[in-house]
Amino acid sequence: MRHTVTLSSETDWPGFRSEARRLLAHLVPPEDVAWHTPAGAAEDLFVPIADSEQKRPAAPVPPAQGAMNFVVPPAFLTLCEKVVLHQDPARFALLYRLLWRLVHERALRHDPLDADRTRARHMMQAVRRDLHKMKAFVRFRPLEREGEPPLHVAWFEPDHHIVEAVAPFFVRRFTAMHWAILTPECSVQWTPAQADPTAAPQKASDASLPPGELRFGPGASRADAPPADAGEALWLTYYAHIFNPARLKTDMMRKEMPVKYWHNLPEAALIAPLTAQATERSGRMVEAAPTSPARRIVQPVQQARALDPHPGAALPDDPKAALAALKRATERCRECPIGAHATQSVMGEGPIHAALMVVGEQPGEQEDLVGRPFVGPAGQLFNRAVAELGWSREHFFVTNAVKHFKFELRGKRRIHKTPGQREAAACLHWLESEIAQVRPRAFIALGATAARALVGRPVAVTAERGQWLEGPQGRRVLITLHPSALLRGDPAERDEAWRAWLEDLAQASDIASLEAAR
Ligand code: URA
Repeated sequence: MRHTVTLSSETDWPGFRSEARRLLAHLVPPEDVAWHTPAGAAEDLFVPIADSEQKRPAAPVPPAQGAMNFVVPPAFLTLCEKVVLHQDPARFALLYRLLWRLVHERALRHDPLDADRTRARHMMQAVRRDLHKMKAFVRFRPLEREGEPPLHVAWFEPDHHIVEAVAPFFVRRFTAMHWAILTPECSVQWTPAQADPTAAPQKASDASLPPGELRFGPGASRADAPPADAGEALWLTYYAHIFNPARLKTDMMRKEMPVKYWHNLPEAALIAPLTAQATERSGRMVEAAPTSPARRIVQPVQQARALDPHPGAALPDDPKAALAALKRATERCRECPIGAHATQSVMGEGPIHAALMVVGEQPGEQEDLVGRPFVGPAGQLFNRAVAELGWSREHFFVTNAVKHFKFELRGKRRIHKTPGQREAAACLHWLESEIAQVRPRAFIALGATAARALVGRPVAVTAERGQWLEGPQGRRVLITLHPSALLRGDPAERDEAWRAWLEDLAQASDIASLEAAR
């Protein structure tokens, strides 16, 4: 007897799992089952059309011939989750056959060279490669919309059914951005939750995602994606500048960036000319006399404008709008490597023209996900100090020296890494641009990174804490520890450390309580 199962989508893993369990429990052998997906790409050409149009459950399964308990290795489930995303129409038949054999042929577990196992493993690897390539090679282009934030649209042609599986990655990476990815098979669009804190939060259907709406729609064509924008010219200039002819390894490049993706990558047009000049350029580099690195001259507003998604547009006169423009610009900042890995940039918040600006080091894990400064554990400690001092966060502006979260991956965990001096220096102009908008009377530097950024020289925080230092243009900066230093400190000395920290901060009490003026 033949059984036909029509799954509800190309990637219906839950459907496959429950049907496979049911069939297995009823001892239906793999050769008696035909698996179909709505695309109609049946792997079994001899199944009548009428049969293949049934939705699951399909042909009635005979009564169970005795209950069957089976346990499969966890690695098999991982394999299935990836293989169901493969474009091969025979994938579900293969997986069910493997499941059947795992249960009925104990020796299969010890035969890694078995043809079915090998084929499934290769399919899993192909899907993993496709997921990796999509994460690496999607390029968004902004589409201006009347009265709405720009929609960043990308065109991509995956080999497998991976769009749904990869969408959460893009949500986490570009949480604050409105974006859409178009592919021939389906499209996906992300609308972040409203920035207005009084608005009801939208829910992402997946509870592990930040608030917002993730929608899937029909496929599209390449012509639906917007053409190159001015920001792309900037990216190409940057790409040409960072191309190091002495490090050219064309085989490696082709492997990492296969030619089939080139038509989606603006930088691909530069590869041939840059490669052709590489030998000559590296020869000149070898012959040239050594040079010492140029001192970086910070030109905050010009750089911010250059990176703004609308090049040529000046920062708006209205400070609130200018801060919003800076936020958009930092999202695209790749002047150091941190930005490429963070979820989003985190800019300061607080009243425009606050009298006091508090500057931390960089956003942490929580801040990176939420997009606001000092909301994680260090922020909670800081809030406690604010409460004990009788201050209110509504009275001052809180920001960081570095605008993206730097971390190191340990397994799935993102562990905070202190930004290097180069990274802090690269980010300095963003902080200076914020300062230029807020124009505070005084600053509190929480920790060494903030102190150096504000004072303009390395500061020994433990030696100079509790002191007001003078920075450029007579800037007044109160130096103290970063709250995470207290979190890390010796528990036996915690009370004392807490009291000393409050004492440091209290020196800014007069300014902290001033209403934002001007
Ligand atoms: N630490 C910081 O320095 N800033 C934050 O925003 C959070 C933690």
